[in-house]
Amino acid sequence: MFAAQTLAGAKPDQYAQLIDQARALVAGERDRVANAANLSALVYSALPDLNWAGFYFFDGTELVVGPFQGLPACVRIPLDKGVCGAAARTRQTQRIADVHAFPGHIACDSASNSELVVPLVGADGSLVGVFDLDSPKHDRFDADDQAGLEAVARVFVESLA
Ligand code: SME
Repeated sequence: MFAAQTLAGAKPDQYAQLIDQARALVAGERDRVANAANLSALVYSALPDLNWAGFYFFDGTELVVGPFQGLPACVRIPLDKGVCGAAARTRQTQRIADVHAFPGHIACDSASNSELVVPLVGADGSLVGVFDLDSPKHDRFDADDQAGLEAVARVFVESLA
């Protein structure tokens, strides 16, 4: 059984522990739904001040919601819409301090005020989807959060290989 350990120390150290936990969670498993479900649960329970953590998968046309923790969310997001669409389209992490100032932001949960979306790109360069974190706090995600959550996203993508 998985025993979550409380993250301790400075933020980069906490992310190092979270990444170790993420690696342990997906070890030996390649199923994308299973790994996305467990990584969503891990991140949502380990990090403070999140109201949504989860995955959207690219179906060849648009993003379709996958495993997540939080309130029910928008099912499909075109690549030209929202923070998720911007991350998928540009393949650049979107770290948004105030989602209300982001043109085209899709408000799935009105409690969300800041957001971090990491694109998921496979080893062959294909778009897998995005890993999306929402917070009720303004400016919740700093550069350490971005680096740590990009590393969690890499653990996910590598688990599929
Ligand atoms: N806010 C996102 C939509 C997804 S939800 O936050 C879960 C966006 O603008 O793309």
